[in-house]
Amino acid sequence: MSQLVYETADELASATADRLVAALAAAQAARGTASVVLTGGRTGIAVLAALRSATLDWSSLDIYWGDERFLPAGDPERNETQAREALLDHVPVSPARVHPMAPSDGEFGDDPDAAAEAYAVLLKDVPSFDVCLLGVGEEGHTASIFPHSPAVYETARAVVAVRDCPKPPPTRVSLTLPTIRQASEVWLMTTGEAKAEPVASALAGASEEDVPAAGARGKRHTLWILDRAAASRL
Ligand code: 6PG
Repeated sequence: MSQLVYETADELASATADRLVAALAAAQAARGTASVVLTGGRTGIAVLAALRSATLDWSSLDIYWGDERFLPAGDPERNETQAREALLDHVPVSPARVHPMAPSDGEFGDDPDAAAEAYAVLLKDVPSFDVCLLGVGEEGHTASIFPHSPAVYETARAVVAVRDCPKPPPTRVSLTLPTIRQASEVWLMTTGEAKAEPVASALAGASEEDVPAAGARGKRHTLWILDRAAASRL
């Protein structure tokens, strides 16, 4: 596990975008393809926006989400909507290789459990992810896995519905920690003083039940990418 600390959120977004391009290009050089898991949240979307001018073989990239707000397609609060506006609508990705989690008005209707199960079935054919991008919440959540929630204790299902989420909107779909840990690299990216406590707790060995971000570890590498404020209690 390692940490990178940047002076500002803008510097973090720019440097992380460059690092992600290098990681995905290396995977493509080795295997002819790469896969990335996107996150919502301010920091995650800022990194995507910083990728807009990047040079990458976008058509040889599989794109997944770590979590999604369970809302109608195109809803501005959906992570997919924000990712498309920030990046995916501006680069030549292969539409068939962009794998959003179902909306609440899609083929599974307003059933987040069915949407979660369908995503788990999709992931059955995915051996691993090259890089899983994650944010960190003020109480230590990551993806839509919150402290002492059913999702943090889930070990059987790869993807779960999340209800009564403390961070609005209340209903979501999320990868579970065992699925996140299938990633070769997990990058936890967060900024601001409000995240200093959960970051320090996670890096000091807090349990994943108390601080779910602490359970987000890559098979090969776990990287905490912080600005000075979020790193201020380390
Ligand atoms: C979501 C995200 C969530 C987010 C964190 C951090 O759907 O809300 O997946 O896990 O990454 O809450 O968000 P900020 O970077 O905006 O603080």
